[in-house]
Amino acid sequence: MKTEELFGLDRTRCVKCGLCAKDCLFGALKTGGDGFPVMTDPGKCMRCQHCMAICPKAAIRFGGKRPEDSVAAEGLPLPGAEEAENFLRTRRSVRKYQDRDVERGLIERILKVLGNSPTGCNARSLKFTCLSTRKAMDEFRRKFIQVVERHREGNKLLPRWLAVPAIQLRDGKSDIFFRGAPGMLIVSSDETAPGVTTPHEDVVIACSMFELLSRSHGLGTCWCGFLKLVQSEIPELLVEILGFRPSTPFYAMLFGYPAVEYRRGVQRDDEAEIDWR
Ligand SMILES: Cc1cc2nc3c(=O)[nH]c(=O)nc-3n(C[C@H](O)[C@H](O)[C@H](O)COP(=O)(O)O)c2cc1C
Repeated sequence: MKTEELFGLDRTRCVKCGLCAKDCLFGALKTGGDGFPVMTDPGKCMRCQHCMAICPKAAIRFGGKRPEDSVAAEGLPLPGAEEAENFLRTRRSVRKYQDRDVERGLIERILKVLGNSPTGCNARSLKFTCLSTRKAMDEFRRKFIQVVERHREGNKLLPRWLAVPAIQLRDGKSDIFFRGAPGMLIVSSDETAPGVTTPHEDVVIACSMFELLSRSHGLGTCWCGFLKLVQSEIPELLVEILGFRPSTPFYAMLFGYPAVEYRRGVQRDDEAEIDWR
C-alpha cells in the first residue's frame, strides 16, 4: 500500500494539534515543518489506527478507511464500574447446556466484535474456527473419538485421565471433554505469519473477551482446557480434524444457552496476592 493510501489527511479539517504524531508508537508519523502530520516512515507503522482514532477533527483516513465509518466513542453507553465489577464477580463456567443451537446471527455478531481483541504488535493473525451447531459438534466429537481410538489401537499408552473419559464419550455415557455443549469456538493464531510475536497470549485474550461478550447475550461458556491436554498427548488430533499444524497455538471455548442458573457469586478465599511495591 502506498504511503498516501495508508495515511490520508484532510488539510481543511486538520488543526495541527499534533495528537496523532504524539500517539504514534513507533514514530512513523511526524509533525512536518508546516505543522501538518506526515507519514515519514511507513515501515514503522503497525496499522493500529490510533492516529485516526485520536483525531478530534476526523481529519485522518487510514488505509482507505474513513473516520466517519468508525464507531464514535463520544457519548457511547459503556458499562460503569459497578456493572463491570458485578459482571466479573458473577461470571461462571457453564457445564450444562440447553439442547438447542445458538442462532447463527448472534454468533456472527459476537465474532465480528471479537475481531477487536488486541494482538501483540497489532499482528492480527487470529482465526476463529466455529463449531456453531449441535450437528457440527457431534461430528467433531465423532472425529475426536476416532483419532483417540486409533491412537489406542496403535497400542499407544494413553494416560488414565484421557483413556477413561474417551471411552465414556464413545459409549455415550458422559462428555467430560466438551460438556455436552452445542457449540465450540476454537481461536487459533498463525505463529509463522510475519509480525506475530505473541500468538499464545493473543488467543487466550480473545477467548476471555468471548466469555464476556457471550455472557452479555445470555450465553454460557466454559474454557475447554481438556482439548489442549488431549492435543498435547496426541499432536495429530487437530491436524487431522481441522488441518492445524501440530504446533498451532489455540484455545477453545465451549458455548451455548445455559441449562443452569447461578443465584449468587462465589466467595474466594484465595484471591490473587497483591504485592504492593
Ligand atoms: C485455562 C482454563 C482451562 C479450563 N479448562 C476446563 C475444562 O477443560 N473443563 C471444564 O469443565 N472447566 C475448565 N475450566 C474451568 C475451571 O475449572 C473454572 O474456571 C474453575 O473451576 C472456577 O469456576 P468458575 O469459572 O465458575 O469460577 C478451565 C478454566 C480455565 C481458566
